[in-house]
Order: sequence, then C-alpha cells, then structure tokens
Amino acid sequence: MKPHRLLKTFLLLLALFITTAAAANETADMVRYLDYRSLPRISDDPVEMTLPAAVLCKDPTPEFGPHVFCAAMHLYANQAALAAKAKGGDKVRYPIGSLFVKEKFERKEATAPMLITVMEKMSDKGQVEDWKFTMIRLSDRSVVAREHFKISCEDCHAKFSEHDFISSASDSLLSAFLKKQPPVPAVAKR
Ligand code: HEC
Repeated sequence: MKPHRLLKTFLLLLALFITTAAAANETADMVRYLDYRSLPRISDDPVEMTLPAAVLCKDPTPEFGPHVFCAAMHLYANQAALAAKAKGGDKVRYPIGSLFVKEKFERKEATAPMLITVMEKMSDKGQVEDWKFTMIRLSDRSVVAREHFKISCEDCHAKFSEHDFISSASDSLLSAFLKKQPPVPAVAKR
C-alpha cells in the first residue's frame, strides 16, 4: 500500500473509533431523554420563561459566551405523568417513571433548541430528591455538570411542593392540555 493510502485508511479508522467511542459514552438514560420529541408536547406555542428560570437556563460553559440565556420553552411529559395529572388534578402525586422534559430556546422565534432539562421520578417519598434532575446541552449532547449551577435544581424546585415539585407554570400547562383532550371513549356495554 502507498504511504498516503495507508494514512487515509488510518485516519478513517481513527474517525470511526472516535465516533463509536462517543456514541458508547451516551448512557441509555441520555438516549431516552434525547428522544423527548416522541413524547406528547404539552405546550402549543413556545412559552416565554419566567426570569429566574430563564437566567438559569444559561449554559454555564464559556463556549457560548456570557450573554446566552433562554427566553422560551416547550414542555413534554410522558403518559405516566399525564395519566397521574388527569387522575390527581390539584392533588397530583406523580408515579415512579414520570418524565418531564423542558426544551429551551434562546429566542422565542428560534427553531433549534439549545438545551433540555429533564426531571424523572425515581422514588416516591414525597421529597424533591425523588426526582432526578439533568441538564443536557444539545450542540454536543453532553450533560452540563452540576458544579456549574449557582442554585441547585432541587433548591428551586423544592418550592413547588404543592404540585409534587413540578412548577406552577407547567402544572397550569398540563391542566390546559388535558382539558383539550377528547374524552376517553366509553367501553360499549353489552
Ligand atoms: C431558579 C429556580 C429554578 C432552578 C434553579 C431550576 N428550575 Fe427548573 N423550572 C423552574 C421554573 C420556574 C419552571 C417553569 C417553567 C419556566 O418558567 O421556565 C421550571 C421547569 C422545569 C422543568 C419542567 C417541569 C416543571 O417542573 O415545570 C424541568 C424538567 C426542569 N425545570 C428541570 C430543571 C433542572 C434539571 C434544573 C437544574 C439544572 C432546574 N430545573 C433548575 C425553576 C427552576
């Protein structure tokens, strides 16, 4: 083999190795979270975010610069969460396995989201720690490390104890979404 051919083959193999290694680094949870668009979307239009949450949406790593913060979001929730909200109403308690994903956009008009934040219910003791909190940067599908957060996810969400630690904003979105659903067809009686 000619030397430049050999180099080409080597580079190709190297590229393949790097891609496979990167893919293997994504845990099963990450892959599941990143598939959030297959879940029912609760918000119709992007919802403008409240200021504290918008500021916190800021990606703490320097590559985006200091001015990036998110202005709008979409909310997704899985069937387990929706069924619990439909049944529990104002006194909702989400079962283990409930999943919420907030998709964050830098501007309301933006089409590509920057980040997702995820809450998955892992235990059911009635405390904020029942939820696993994750923030994922979409540009490189990496988890944003917690040490970057000045206020922890749990500290802020602990305030939402009336809705099982889901924010009041999302709780209202869920109620509105469920109201619009067609009633479950009654099973025909014989
Ligand atoms: C300063 C308070 C605050 C902090 C800190 C915070 N959140 Fe939130 N979060 C909110 C608010 C308020 C909402 C409602 C939507 C909005 O206004 O953006 C929300 C919504 C969410 C939702 C959608 C479900 C719900 O409860 O509404 C998820 C998922 C979420 N946050 C995950 C996270 C994760 C993960 C972190 C840590 C990286 C985090 N949050 C940190 C305030 C906070």
